Amino acid sequence: MSTSPVDATTTSAWQELSRLREAMVPDLRAWFAASPGRAAEFTFECADLHVDLSKNLIDRDVVQALLRLAEQVNLAQRRDDMFAGKHINVTEDRAVLHTALRLPADAQLQVDGQDAVADVHEVLDRMLAFAERVRSGEWVGVTGQRIKTVVNIGIGGSDLGPVMVYEALLPHKQDGLECRFVSNIDPADVAETVADLDPATTLFIVASKTFTTLETLTNARLARSWLLEKLAEAGAIDGTAEQDSQAIARHFVAVSTALDKVADFGIDPVNAFGFWDWVGGRYSVDSAVGLSVAIAIGERGFRDFLDGFRRVDEHFRTQEPGSNVPLLLGLLNVWYVNFFQAHSHAVLPYAQYLHRFPAYLQQLTMESNGKSVRWDGTPVTSETGEIFWGEPGTNGQHAFYQLIHQGTRLIPADFIAVANPAHPLQDGDVDVHGLFLANFFAQTAALAFGKTADEVRAEGTPEHLVSARVFAGNRPTTSILASSLTPSVVGQLIALYEHITFVQGVVWGIDSFDQWGVELGKKLALEIAPAIFGDAEALAQQDGSTQALVSWYLNARD
Ligand code: F6P
Repeated sequence: MSTSPVDATTTSAWQELSRLREAMVPDLRAWFAASPGRAAEFTFECADLHVDLSKNLIDRDVVQALLRLAEQVNLAQRRDDMFAGKHINVTEDRAVLHTALRLPADAQLQVDGQDAVADVHEVLDRMLAFAERVRSGEWVGVTGQRIKTVVNIGIGGSDLGPVMVYEALLPHKQDGLECRFVSNIDPADVAETVADLDPATTLFIVASKTFTTLETLTNARLARSWLLEKLAEAGAIDGTAEQDSQAIARHFVAVSTALDKVADFGIDPVNAFGFWDWVGGRYSVDSAVGLSVAIAIGERGFRDFLDGFRRVDEHFRTQEPGSNVPLLLGLLNVWYVNFFQAHSHAVLPYAQYLHRFPAYLQQLTMESNGKSVRWDGTPVTSETGEIFWGEPGTNGQHAFYQLIHQGTRLIPADFIAVANPAHPLQDGDVDVHGLFLANFFAQTAALAFGKTADEVRAEGTPEHLVSARVFAGNRPTTSILASSLTPSVVGQLIALYEHITFVQGVVWGIDSFDQWGVELGKKLALEIAPAIFGDAEALAQQDGSTQALVSWYLNARD
């Protein structure tokens, strides 16, 4: 795909947005007062998601200009190219087809001459059948016992997606089965994760798109040694190569695009689940990378999860622009980054089960859009890639909300909640979830409408304290609500943010699907490692600071 990106900053829509921004004096109080229909006007449905944009710093003209911007950068064409399997990942010359992972079995899609839908469903069926065997106890470990704990070993997209979704769907998990996740090469991670496990009832999933990732392969080898050692100690295997390989075959499965490397590791290729280079790591939780989730929630749950993605894909592909939620939200982020100089974006789930969602979104958004060059190699022409961060409400309220309410920076925030809790607990006659959501609604209102000096004075506040107690308001928020946190709704939320990320990338003209920025550090780590292990020449080749740090570390190390 050699088409050069349109420079968004040269479009008439961009000029119009600049004019609108200059003329805008944000005043959500006045805007709501002047337009009683504002909430309805800016509230949209996307699959099961109810999305209220009305507390954002927008009016009809801004939205129209943003939509014109999308037109002028040919966003719809690029979206269609993505869905059609064109090589829009230019720097890696690949199609970008995570959306194919959720197509129905009767859909048609050829990727580079290959029937992608048939390939997807072949692996999906095999992986779900495997998940059901583990759940039913038909799949047993080397001693004949059923699996109780599944440990996913992976990092980045091979970890953050599965762990986030597993946590989000805990109430849907089969009793008696637990999943754990090892990602960090810090040996504490694997050591703590397996410390109380019984190897005879543990199944490891080694998840790695490339099957070359240092952290994952190191942890997989550590886990393999642990398994064999503990089984031998318990007398379950006799330490012969044959019994070792039988144990590995019963306790290790893999997910990867590099099935040859899986076999080299000693994992039976029959128990390996593939995917394709057209699925980016951070877009892969709905591929076989989600195997741990499939084991936890079962075939029905996983198919529902995929259905959620598919419904949002359809919305993004077919909904007219004025009510196309991922499109509007992506454009809104551009509005804040480029016209309000917003550096960051908070994601605040008022749903404890979504506690890993901000961490998951950090990879999705920042590995995708943290770029300084465009897809044709030329420099970007505007700011890109805001920092995504967040914690569940109400915890964040007692920590960093101070800065969102009264700090000097504008921080757009997404508030996410569901209406029906998994645990509808009562505190006396008080419904605790109701109280929880009162906080959600209160925070978004406080951020939008603030509190004036006169209102503070009217409460009898001494004059010298008035300014400290004023809330300026006009802090933008988007509210995203759903009925309950089902597998489908979790899939919808993920697809929503995938497409928001895509929209921003297209406006900025960047390839949201490569990640060259992670390579240099990985390479240097491999060059520095010998210095740590005693190679004086390798140490001498390092810069002065690195030499001193390594020497300090070696001296301090017991
Ligand atoms: O280093 C970044 C990265 O390449 C991510 O993009 C990816 O999700 C992660 O590493 C893990 O890669 P793999 O699945 O190939 O082990």
